[in-house]
Amino acid sequence: MSAPIGVIGGTALAELAGVVEQAPPAPVDTEFGVTSGPLVRGRYSGRDVVFVMRHGPGHAIAPHAINYRANIAALAAAGCRQVIAIAAVGGITEAMSPGRIVIPHQIIDYSWGRAHSLHDDPARGTLDHIDFTDPYDEPLRQVLRQAAQARDLDPAEAAVHGITQGPRLETAAEIDRMARDGCDIVGMTGMPEASLAREAGLAYACCAVVVNKAAGRTGGLAIHAEIEATLARAMGDVEGLLTDVLPAL
Ligand code: HPA
Repeated sequence: MSAPIGVIGGTALAELAGVVEQAPPAPVDTEFGVTSGPLVRGRYSGRDVVFVMRHGPGHAIAPHAINYRANIAALAAAGCRQVIAIAAVGGITEAMSPGRIVIPHQIIDYSWGRAHSLHDDPARGTLDHIDFTDPYDEPLRQVLRQAAQARDLDPAEAAVHGITQGPRLETAAEIDRMARDGCDIVGMTGMPEASLAREAGLAYACCAVVVNKAAGRTGGLAIHAEIEATLARAMGDVEGLLTDVLPAL
């Protein structure tokens, strides 16, 4: 039997509608604490999947307070080897317009103070300095890209994903600085999730959905109104994409 695929749902995919559950969903207590929400184990689009809501039930857990270590450790313990992370992001560069699906290839981490390693206790074994030159798994990125292209979603095939601390949105000057740094999109949850996945030996890629133009680039539109409107439209794209991607893995 092939390994289940891990799916981490975010603002752009709060639940996996239509999943056929194999066991009652339950939070998992790991050596790093309890997962953000119940781990849903089931069949989806012909594959075994393990789904976890990053922000927990009711979208209550803020980005800096998410137990990223528990979520990743639980997916690894459930037998996953590949993880697809869904994330809502703000668009910094012109090409990253609301509604666009983006498969980022790089990360700049501006977050701080988060428990960001599985190796903070010598008792847990030998320290490993993971290679994080390319933070996302390339084969998984390519499967996501091809599936998005096949659906005519015009995905952005590469983007630098800047991760801020949140939960507040950024200032215009912060977004200007991120643009100078080379960031294309901005989100709050991409790290340490990606590096923890690498530490745990999981192939990890992100499917981001631009839900708003970043601060200072909105042209006067209220960010929250834009997010709500785009999310409603983009959710279907993300679900469809996932349905196509899973059988290809
Ligand atoms: N900034 C940070 N995180 C986000 C944004 C944003 O504009 N939109 C969605 N997640």
